[in-house]
Amino acid sequence: MQLSALTLGIETSCDDTSIAVLRGFEVLSSLVSSQDDLHVQWGGIVPEAAAREHLEMALPILEAALAEAGVSLPDLELIGVTTRPGLVGALSVGASMAQALGAWLNVPAVGVNHLHAHLLSPLLSDPAIAFPSLGLLVSGGHTELVLLTSPTEFEILAETRDDAAGETLDKCARLIGLPYPGGKELESLALSGDSSKYALPEPFLRDRSAFSFSGLKTAAARLVEEHSQDLDRASFAAGVQARVVEALVRQTQYWIEECEVRTVTLSGGVAANRSLRQALQTLAERNNVAFVAAAPAYCTDNGAMIALAAQILQGTAHESLDVNSRSQESDVQRPTTD
Ligand code: KG4
Ligand code: ZN
Repeated sequence: MQLSALTLGIETSCDDTSIAVLRGFEVLSSLVSSQDDLHVQWGGIVPEAAAREHLEMALPILEAALAEAGVSLPDLELIGVTTRPGLVGALSVGASMAQALGAWLNVPAVGVNHLHAHLLSPLLSDPAIAFPSLGLLVSGGHTELVLLTSPTEFEILAETRDDAAGETLDKCARLIGLPYPGGKELESLALSGDSSKYALPEPFLRDRSAFSFSGLKTAAARLVEEHSQDLDRASFAAGVQARVVEALVRQTQYWIEECEVRTVTLSGGVAANRSLRQALQTLAERNNVAFVAAAPAYCTDNGAMIALAAQILQGTAHESLDVNSRSQESDVQRPTTD
């Protein structure tokens, strides 16, 4: 695949204001202003506060991203922006900015589905990924296994029935007093723990098209209650993380065989987890398929993956700038069942 447009990527769907400049696959700059410090006081994201913070940060981050890339606005050839799924107020900040810039500069402004962008983000590590590929997308809001027959064709094979993997890790982290979002801290704590010390259930379902993490979450809450005085937090963290990884690996194994894919990719915030990366690498080697994970910097929400997705998806049916009516839809196609 050849890409060469000088592209601005804008991501404001949730709690990170991120803007990047790419030329084709090459990231010239990618800046992120995280709102974690703002939302930590509430233990979760407050949509109104998120939108206001995006409004505050969007222009300074834009200026800094252009400066770091060594380009100015009139140089841009394409603008990509996340338009769904996400928080409507937060999405609107990025979409308004993209539309205004596009109109003023007379360049296309392409609305990008955040999930497509995560799924395409491993291409920033390896632009020559062999298709068909099986994309495991694990973030705070989504857990999906998606078949990509090409970079523009997405078909959901499995998705979560309840909590997402990242949400589960965040909630379990919160149970033991770690700050939001706790996935990363849980990982650090798990390093010194024993994952088999506590009997936590593996959240595995016989239904190959589903993940479910609510049972693990409930068992984790009960365990913390029972051991209120003597909980070994590191072993609790290691146990939760191991069970989540095992469930992800099991379903991935099934679909590698079923779809005869050439590559397995890993993306989304939870893809930064070293234990998950290692487990999938091992799984891919065992199955003789390539493994490409998004680089850690492009696992959590970032403008670089939006700029990349805009270049790849421009002109396809996946392009849209409609924010309000479809902000909750994932728009990744499900397989037909007949
Ligand atoms: O993709 P992302 O930035 O936002 C969504 O689109 O949801 O993912 C955020 C999620 C959070 O649940 C966070 O705890 C998790 O990614 N996360 C991690 C790690 N770094 C971020 N989970 C496990 N290990 C990590 N190192
Ligand atoms: Zn995300």
